[in-house]
Amino acid sequence: MKGVLICGGKGTRLYPLTKTVNKQLMPVYNKPLVHYPLATLIKAGIKEIMIVSGAEHADQFLQHFGNNDEFADIRFEFAVQKEPGGIAQALGLARYFVGDDKCVAILGDNIYEDDFSKDVEAFKNQDQGAKIFIKEVPDPRRFGCPEISHDGTICRIIEKPEIPPSRYCVTGLYMYDNKVWDVIEHLKPSGRGELEITDVNNHYVYSGTMTYGEVKGAWIDAGTFDSLLKANIWAAQKNSVNVADILTQLEDGL
Ligand code: G1P
Repeated sequence: MKGVLICGGKGTRLYPLTKTVNKQLMPVYNKPLVHYPLATLIKAGIKEIMIVSGAEHADQFLQHFGNNDEFADIRFEFAVQKEPGGIAQALGLARYFVGDDKCVAILGDNIYEDDFSKDVEAFKNQDQGAKIFIKEVPDPRRFGCPEISHDGTICRIIEKPEIPPSRYCVTGLYMYDNKVWDVIEHLKPSGRGELEITDVNNHYVYSGTMTYGEVKGAWIDAGTFDSLLKANIWAAQKNSVNVADILTQLEDGL
């Protein structure tokens, strides 16, 4: 199974930080943000990964990953999304890289604590379809939000709904069979002029071939100032930093 690491977008919610540096290269404690979703792919057993990035910062990704001993056993390929045309458009650029294989796509600003290796193994053996991962969140309006029927199946996903149909959101990890390329090819741009990953997912939902799992551990979409700060605190704690101590020092003016 091939991996696609999607690092497009202008990161406008993090301006002016992202004026010169790509959002996914923002520091999260001791590593750039993109290392976390990359580690999720690698932990899940993926060894061939295409990194799709926006045109402005594509050179930064090549510099960072093109010759990086830390990832010596990973085969990287790079693709450039000329305009920010949505996550589905970015994924579409991986069509010939993925070839006849299935793929797992992850957003470059999503941090997961869970290990998805069993899900990847199970998906490899699945005949067809797609799989997404949902998480209960305080404000699903910021995300794609699934409507879940009484029997537990997802009946549709609404992108950034005003009135969320559930307390869950669709996180940025997706597994697709080979039909995804045709689905992307026939997508129409949404109201905000983008090819939406939610429309791709709804295609699988409506054809009855979408399955889902629930994210158990921490999950952070680090695309805003507060969630990036949260990601930093989470990663610092994972590195045994005593964050409470730091806060006390700040209160004491130190
Ligand atoms: C994107 C997707 C959304 C998903 C989210 C997860 O939103 O469009 O469906 O819930 O990623 O991080 P964005 O963060 O690009 O606004």
